[in-house]
Amino acid sequence: MSKIAIMGAMPEEIAPLLKKVENIKKVEYANNAYYQATYKGKELVIAYSKIGKVFSSLTASTLIEKFGCSTLLFSGVAGAINPSLHIGDLIIADKLCQHDLDITIFGHPHGFVPEGAVFVETDIRLREIAKVVAEKNELTLIEGTIATGDQFVASNERKEFILSTFKADAIEMEGASVATVCDALNVPFFVLRAISDTANDDAGMDFDEFMVGSAIISANFILEMVENIDQ
Ligand code: ADE
Repeated sequence: MSKIAIMGAMPEEIAPLLKKVENIKKVEYANNAYYQATYKGKELVIAYSKIGKVFSSLTASTLIEKFGCSTLLFSGVAGAINPSLHIGDLIIADKLCQHDLDITIFGHPHGFVPEGAVFVETDIRLREIAKVVAEKNELTLIEGTIATGDQFVASNERKEFILSTFKADAIEMEGASVATVCDALNVPFFVLRAISDTANDDAGMDFDEFMVGSAIISANFILEMVENIDQ
């Protein structure tokens, strides 16, 4: 049976998953822990990468190349850029970009390097499954652009740059790097985030207050999606 990877960036993002899955077997590899498990008959491998694009690339690659996962779901929290997103709201990425990738001095657009692309799209079938789960639970689910960078954004000026440059709806620190890995390796992937802050001056405090609750909202939604994914 093919395996479904579920990854987060921080322990808090996968803890709610580990509470609900069964037959957990922990495997240590490359300074990280990978949890092989089952949920309602589906085979899963769950891991948190540590924060940022480098660690998340390593974990995504490992889940695919070493553990043989053929679908990857990311669950976690994000800062809102779109003013209609509030703390606890859910967003799925239709596409992702790297807002801090900058070789514009050579005439390239923000987020672009030669032989790459500014935006990487997520799997449309996984997005459809998310919409079915949202409808069933009467939850609002926004679909939009997620911008990723190796910075925790807590400034209206940086938010404005990301909005005007990429028309992004939310920001976080891992999605686009995971997307780039999965796209290159032809693995269908999906990114879900629950809002923990609005990336303004108060973002640090809001994140500390709301991150755990929002991580639980995202993780519970992802597990319901798993039930609906054909393996
Ligand atoms: N993840 C959650 N909130 C964030 C923010 N404000 N900036 C970057 N990543 C985040």
